[in-house]
This record gives sequence, structure tokens and C-alpha cells, in this order.
Amino acid sequence: MLAIKTESDTSKTESDTSQSQVLPACRPAGEQILFREMRDAFEQLEHVPLRDALLESLELERESIRAIAESFTTFLSAKHEPDARRRFFGSWQRTNNSAMSVEGLANRMTLEAESGVGRLDTERVLSIFRGGGRLNRVADEDLGVGGQVLHFELYYRMATEFTERDDQWQSRAYCLPAAAEFKSWLDSTRLRDPVITGLYSLLVHEGYTHAELEMIAPLFYSWATEDMGLSEKEARRALAWISVHNGGTEKGHFAHSCLSLSHYCEGSGVAIDTAAATSIFRKYFRMKGDVMAQLSALL
Ligand SMILES: [Fe+2]
Ligand SMILES: [Fe+2]
Repeated sequence: MLAIKTESDTSKTESDTSQSQVLPACRPAGEQILFREMRDAFEQLEHVPLRDALLESLELERESIRAIAESFTTFLSAKHEPDARRRFFGSWQRTNNSAMSVEGLANRMTLEAESGVGRLDTERVLSIFRGGGRLNRVADEDLGVGGQVLHFELYYRMATEFTERDDQWQSRAYCLPAAAEFKSWLDSTRLRDPVITGLYSLLVHEGYTHAELEMIAPLFYSWATEDMGLSEKEARRALAWISVHNGGTEKGHFAHSCLSLSHYCEGSGVAIDTAAATSIFRKYFRMKGDVMAQLSALL
């Protein structure tokens, strides 16, 4: 069985938001933070070949990681024109909003488990169901299953606050084609490709997202208060979408993703293909890097 190290608390709500999570501090460059935090998340995976594939993909796509860090740093260094801000929030959202395809992958897994009832050993059927259960845990906070505010609502609040308080950023006119393409590719790995491919995409997404949120939190707080003119209280409210995700939430999702993979492989008998996984990991970094580089170029 694939094992993971201890999981972080994943039950944070908006009310847990504290200033310390978004306050600026003496910090290393964004690129270094992305690398450090991704390594920290990926270390939870004890399946050595797959963990090595994640770490190697990260090294091989260093240019993409650098482009991502530079994009956030540039965007968060000034008050750009309203349309540039709308384009940023409209496009960025397409790269991070994937709860629906996580649930779609869970549906596929439970369908496979149902079809195994009476045909496979009970233990194997149970393992596949448990794989689907772990996917549900990845999406719990996004969907507000503990009574929390839906994460879509928190993103809406943030993006709208920083785009002249209208919600035009939601128009597809502000979404870069590369961002739409990224989302459609990520969804297709979970909804159309073999289930195991969707799980590879989940691993890299949850580990990456942890790093992105950790890196951008202090930058967003400084930008909100120094460039966009919000009070500290207003900034904390506007940035709740960021603070509910950092401090361990996404690392916890990575841990659930590892367990989902482990249960699924045990139950289905599908083997891990590290070459196929590497191709998904690298493509994820390249496509995300391309979106963020295009956003920088348009500022
Ligand atoms: Fe979320
Ligand atoms: Fe997540």
C-alpha cells in the first residue's frame, strides 16, 4: 500500500483566518518558496518512484515555476489597470478551480466499485470505494460540506473587491484562451482519461496549490493594503479565499490524494506508471507556467 506521513488539519474555515497567515514578513524569493513548499508537500508520498517523479518533474520544469513566481510578483507590485486585474482574476480562477472534476473522478471511482460488487473480492470493492471517499475529502471545503462558505463565493468576493467592485471579471472575454485550455485539459484527465491519470493530475495539482497559496499570501496582503488602499480588516476579509487554503489545507488535500491513489490501486489492480505520471506532472507545470507568463506579458 502507498503510505503517507501524518496529515495536516484540513478542517479550516473562514473564521479561522488570522492576520499572521497573510501578514508580510522577511521572505525569500517566490520561486524558492514554490520549490520549498512543493517539496514539503510531495515528501508526504512514501511511494518512492512516484515521489521522485514529482520531484524530478519540478526540477525539469524550473522555467515554468520561475514564470509563475514572476507573474504573481509582477501583478502584486502595483495597481494595474482595471481590465488587467479582471483578466488576471478571470484567468487565474480557471487554473485553480477544479472541485467539480475532483468529484467527477470520485463518481467514476464509485461507479467502478459498484460494478465490482459480486464480481470482485469484497476487500477490493471496499478499497475502490475508499479511494472515492478520499476524493470526497479533497473537495469538502470547496463545497462547504461543513457549513463553511463555498470557496467559489470567497473567490468571487476577492476578485470583485479588486476589480472596481463589479463582477465583469467573470466574463469569458477576460479569460485567456491558454487558461481555458489548461482547465479543459485538467478536467479531461479526470473525466475522460483512465482514472489513474486523473489521480496523477490530482497529486500534482494539490501539491502545487499548497505552494502557490503559501507564496502569494503575504504578497497579496501587502498589495491589498499598500497598492489597493484597503484597511487591514478589509484586506483580511477580501483575502479569505487565500487564507482558508493555506497553513496546511492543501497539504492535507495532497495527503488525501495519496490515499485515494493507494486505495484505488489496491482495489482495481491498476499499476502505477511513473513515465505516464511524469508526463502529466510536467505538462501541468508547463501549461500553468504558460498561462501565468501570458498574464505577465499583458500587464
Ligand atoms: Fe478551495
Ligand atoms: Fe485542494
